[in-house]
Amino acid sequence: MTTQLLDSIKECESVFIRVIRNRLGIVIHKHQTRELHKTILEACRKFKCQPEEYLQNLMVCTDDSPLIEHLVLGVTVGETYFFRDRSQMELLQNVLLPRLIKLKREQRNLSLRIWSAGCATGEEIYTIAIMLAELLPDIKAWSLNLLATDINTASLKKAMTGCYTSWSMRAISSRLKQRYFSEINRKYTISEEIRSIPEFMYLNLNDDYYPSILNGINAFDLILCRNVLIYFDSESTEHLMKKLSISLVDGGYLLLGASDPISLTGIHLDFHHKDGLLFSRPHSRPVMNELINIENQVDIKKPVTPRREIVSQDKKILKKHPIQKLHVIPAKKISEKTICQNDEDTINKLLAESRWQETLDTIDRYTENEKKLEFALIARATALANLGTLDEAVKSCEESLKINKMNKQTYLIYAMVLLELNHFDKAENELRKVIFLDRNFVIAHFQLGLLLFRKNQYELGLKSLKNALVIATRNDPSSLVVGSVGLDYGTLSEILKKEIDIFTMESVNHAN
Ligand SMILES: C[S@@+](CC[C@H](N)C(=O)[O-])C[C@H]1O[C@@H](n2cnc3c(N)ncnc32)[C@H](O)[C@@H]1O
Repeated sequence: MTTQLLDSIKECESVFIRVIRNRLGIVIHKHQTRELHKTILEACRKFKCQPEEYLQNLMVCTDDSPLIEHLVLGVTVGETYFFRDRSQMELLQNVLLPRLIKLKREQRNLSLRIWSAGCATGEEIYTIAIMLAELLPDIKAWSLNLLATDINTASLKKAMTGCYTSWSMRAISSRLKQRYFSEINRKYTISEEIRSIPEFMYLNLNDDYYPSILNGINAFDLILCRNVLIYFDSESTEHLMKKLSISLVDGGYLLLGASDPISLTGIHLDFHHKDGLLFSRPHSRPVMNELINIENQVDIKKPVTPRREIVSQDKKILKKHPIQKLHVIPAKKISEKTICQNDEDTINKLLAESRWQETLDTIDRYTENEKKLEFALIARATALANLGTLDEAVKSCEESLKINKMNKQTYLIYAMVLLELNHFDKAENELRKVIFLDRNFVIAHFQLGLLLFRKNQYELGLKSLKNALVIATRNDPSSLVVGSVGLDYGTLSEILKKEIDIFTMESVNHAN
């Protein structure tokens, strides 16, 4: 029986590999085919179907289907642990985080936005939270936005419990273990002061609806995407690296895993060939005295030989990027190449392509037209928020609201910016105004739900997410969600179902 099943699995192996690549961006290498066969075999038994039937269903089912869940578990390894990769941890603890903290203090902006993309069971983002607790004596004065996302909801649920086995604790010092964990029967529970810092969210990195201020995946000071790209082929790697790079603020850092593949084709990132793969996003305008120069940091030793080469898609070996290279987009180039007859279309296009600085430059030349000032202010607020200039974004929203108090889009952007500034009550007020103006504004219900969870109001949060789901499912799954870029109602419904699933458990935990 098993042999027969295995034979038919082998027959459709290449189609399975294609479906996995298209749906998840994950590539199955030759040496992984035995594992794949095993996963498919288990799925056939679990779902009581033949491989061909399973394959057909995989092609049409939604992202939240148990079929996809089982597949993700089978083809990815959620292996992770606290303080994974010593040299990267030292880089974070001794250089990157202190550097970001110093910069923020100088700017009198006590906020940090950090994203663990592909967080598995959460050890990575909790490690960062522990580091911050150690580095920030005035942690209470800081607005910390730590986001952790994964495609695997079972992992996310586990992450939210904050409970770990000793295997996850193998690289953490006994001092930190004692300081931030409680232990019962070799099970370790992270302290509430750390557990309450990060937020966990479902996200398929292969999807296209980020970065966006509307889902909070934008303007990060630091992104960790370690040991995730190993699952991706060169095309998906290139696509993901582009998206990660535009999700950073200027000067922000991206840290990949030491064995991750990379592609720098068409990507403006400075590469620092350091312990692990570290990149930074260049400033879009010259900042003469603030050039990022990791090489000059005293506490990092220069490697004698490069640990790996960067190979672009066409397999040519790329030269190391000059560390201080700046990517300045000259205004002249914009006027020649990107401004077409309709300025509004141009600005919308630039926003949709996450070209924040170009959006601002274009708006600057465009605001003479009084009637369109309101549109320009909203676009400006969106671009500023995505560049991490939150106080300026607030001003643009407020100016826009002076012109028109009934614009729900402005209230939404305003709420999202306030949320990033951790002004929860004010953000809630603005989201409620959006819903007052338009009861069917699905993104506002969604964000209100997530905000209520952050305020530990789980029942109300779930109610908002369920409202959002009802509205989302009323719409054509393939049409784009009002007020969003690249997100369709079908995908939003799947995300909502996942979030409801994750937070239902959290709500039960809090009720007990
Ligand atoms: C090996 S773990 C890495 C965990 C952590 N970053 C670390 O380095 O310790 C890889 C994670 O990537 C996630 N992953 C794989 N493909 C993904 C995708 N398309 N979208 C989001 N997460 C994905 C897997 O579910 C898994 O949890």
